[in-house]
Amino acid sequence: MIENSRVQKILYGGDYNPEQWPEETWAEDMRLLKLAHIDVVTLNVFSWASLQSDDDVYHFEKLDKIMNMVRDNGMKVCLATATGAHPAWMARKYPDILRTEFNGMKRKFGSRHNSCPNSPTYFKFAKALATKLAERYKDYDNIVAWHISNEFGGECYCENCEKKFREWLKAKYKTIDAVNQAWDTAFWGHTFYDFDDIVAPNMLSEHFEYNRTTFQGISLDYKRFNSESILNCFRLEYDVIHEITPEIPITTNLMGTYQPLDYQMWAKYMDFISWDNYPSNDAPLEDIALRHDLMRGLKQGKPFALMEQTPSVTNWLPYNALKRPGVMRLWSYQAVAHGADTVMFFQMKRSIGACEKYHGAVIDHAGHENTRVFREITALGAELDKIGSLTLGARTESKAAIVFDWDNWWATDFSAGPSVNLHYCDEIFNYYKVFNNLNIPVDFISVEDDLSKYDLVVAPVLYMVKPGYDEKIRTFVKEGGRFVTTFFSGYVDDHDLVTIGGYPGKLRDILGIWVEEEDALPEDAANSFTYDGTNYPATLICDLLHTEGAEALCSYEKDFYAGMPVLTRNHFGKGEAYYVATRSNAEFYRTFIGEICKEAGIKPIINTPDCIEVTKRANANGTFLFFLNHADESQNITLNCDGVDILSGTTYKTGDILLLAAKDVVILQVK
Ligand code: GLA
Ligand code: ZN
Repeated sequence: MIENSRVQKILYGGDYNPEQWPEETWAEDMRLLKLAHIDVVTLNVFSWASLQSDDDVYHFEKLDKIMNMVRDNGMKVCLATATGAHPAWMARKYPDILRTEFNGMKRKFGSRHNSCPNSPTYFKFAKALATKLAERYKDYDNIVAWHISNEFGGECYCENCEKKFREWLKAKYKTIDAVNQAWDTAFWGHTFYDFDDIVAPNMLSEHFEYNRTTFQGISLDYKRFNSESILNCFRLEYDVIHEITPEIPITTNLMGTYQPLDYQMWAKYMDFISWDNYPSNDAPLEDIALRHDLMRGLKQGKPFALMEQTPSVTNWLPYNALKRPGVMRLWSYQAVAHGADTVMFFQMKRSIGACEKYHGAVIDHAGHENTRVFREITALGAELDKIGSLTLGARTESKAAIVFDWDNWWATDFSAGPSVNLHYCDEIFNYYKVFNNLNIPVDFISVEDDLSKYDLVVAPVLYMVKPGYDEKIRTFVKEGGRFVTTFFSGYVDDHDLVTIGGYPGKLRDILGIWVEEEDALPEDAANSFTYDGTNYPATLICDLLHTEGAEALCSYEKDFYAGMPVLTRNHFGKGEAYYVATRSNAEFYRTFIGEICKEAGIKPIINTPDCIEVTKRANANGTFLFFLNHADESQNITLNCDGVDILSGTTYKTGDILLLAAKDVVILQVK
């Protein structure tokens, strides 16, 4: 689908479910999709029930027809394996395929994404179906990708999963003593004498809310186990398909900042990343951008596929506002600007029944092309035809990185204290926003990624420091890197066990400080500090810290810890390590991070108002600057380079004014 010899342009299309419609309507669908410049359809996403009616009874005739029709109409296919929802007969015959929920409720047949990830029945039939599909359609040269299942997610707490969890623990810890140690079960008399004593952590056992557990250790391990169990379902299908069609890349559609699955681990087993972008009506532009960058980071900057977005409206929000004119185009290019090589929708045609019949589509219930949405889709399709292969495969070069770690996210969510308002992604957002607003490219990296190519690494709330990660940071800073971390960092190891001797544990020497206490402030309370002559609020958490080598850049101004450092800098080797002991406001982050970037020689692509995003991607065809105006008013930008607008052909020189209409996008190929 991307970086694939069968693809010569930004693919444009999305989910198409003709099996939900009478056959005689298909020809008109083809006409409309081609009219809209659609060139790829994702087929077969929820067709398991129509493909298989009993253990060994399969029916591919309808899918054959659809595959042939799509090929005859010159369109590419992203072929799904249909395992996103199991058939009713399978659930009746083999109830082990049904999930048990977090509250202990055993589900009956219903909904979708509903199979137990450790069900032998699911394994057997999913593998068989994937094999049959790959064998049957392997010679269709218009298949650009395999799409395994759909939006993998959720959790299962059935007895079979519980049994597998014990096996998983045995493989990980070898002895029950090691488990007891890792989970600190001496607390509240939880000592386990046998692996069989261990039960799944949910509302029937250790939890009193989804994210609130009495034993973080077991809950954390269950998160890992569940994420791996579901990943095994993906890999099961991957392996058989890859064997049969090694040249066709395989993916599954991810969901951005989706907490239950460790996408960084998943990415290792995916040929390329694809994801579904469904921001709420009022999502800040930086929030959408963050998810794109996070997805791009999963495979170290490789372009990704925008697999789904709505052309106009969702149906599952409390208030399903329409995307205003121009917004679909703007958000499509925003994805491309951040690394997408496809623009795809859910869905091609609105169904007439069930829960998504009011979800936006290319072909609306009206059934013809005379709609605002269809016109906007067609116009964008024509532009993407024009762009052709120009931007394909282009990469983003970043000198700054933000560390993002799923284990750390889980552990932070599970933490009992210091504040219910502490949310990992919020703190990540506060720092990400600065880079986005300043038009400074930034990568999201995992704790396994190399740091040496960066000049600045920011690790907000690095609560969990996994074995060896402190050494990685130590080396990075010693060799001249700039490192920034915050309150609630360095507390625990990978089992969520506290590193004793003072926070931030293993990061102490790098930061040249130690934290003695942390004060969690109520929602409306704030301390304050003055940095560079401006007064800023200190909220959420205020660490009470002592320097041991670092210099205090500013101090708290109120309460009994007035005068204690709130922001510190430590010269360490050839580099510098900063500690931000509290949460402040956007102005502070911008000033503080902006200055560090300046010192590190990390320059904005160009200075613009925050409502204008500018990103950069480069490939063998050249360097492309994406200017995205998210505002409702037009904006003027004085250019700092020469370039050609790849859509209009207009040539610009340094110092020229680029006029961007409201919601408009300009892509400059830089000379
Ligand atoms: C998800 C699913 C689609 C559809 C859309 C609706 O992304 O993958 O099948 O349900 O949501 O927004
Ligand atoms: Zn299960």
